[in-house]
Amino acid sequence: TAMIDLQIKSAIRDIPDFPKPGIVFKDITPILKDPSLCEAIVDNFVARVQGLKIDAVAGIESRGFLFGLQLAGKLGVPFVPVRKAGKLPFSVKQKEYELEYGTATIEVHTDAFKPGQHILVHDDLLATGGTVTAASDLIIEMGGIIAGFTFVVGLNFLNGKEKIKHFADKVVVLAEY
Ligand code: PRP
Ligand code: MG
Repeated sequence: TAMIDLQIKSAIRDIPDFPKPGIVFKDITPILKDPSLCEAIVDNFVARVQGLKIDAVAGIESRGFLFGLQLAGKLGVPFVPVRKAGKLPFSVKQKEYELEYGTATIEVHTDAFKPGQHILVHDDLLATGGTVTAASDLIIEMGGIIAGFTFVVGLNFLNGKEKIKHFADKVVVLAEY
């Protein structure tokens, strides 16, 4: 796993002052240009969640879709899109959560998974953990069980891991800053 950490870090592009002054944005798009790195990322996730009971993978819009669907495919389980409000066409359950300024809402289709199913939650990046906490709370409200988490990148100085560890023992972060 040290190998994948270095490969991801050397691919990631730092963009200073995006989207706001003072923020250094971790741009993952160079990873997407490297198919063998993408495959290695998904294979690492698969290896590191081995032994967990996983009935579906939930990926968070939008960057959580990039590897989330691939991960579900390799695990041979359904993919559950967690979307920003107003995008999903069928009946939904929603969750409002706090942002730095104001609130945001995420939604999941009411038939996306069944109560009692074990859901692996995936996103590209763990920062404060606010987004993935909202997704996990929503999944639990819908009767799901959080199997664990996978992230390509983690910004450890923002303490996201601490915030989400109560949901599940397994938190996989491939490249940690
Ligand atoms: C980013 C990132 C995670 C989230 C992490 O998504 O892809 O989803 O922020 O931040 P947090 O841990 O502090 O909640 P963003 O909202 O920028 O949207 P996008 O995925 O659609 O680009
Ligand atoms: Mg996101």
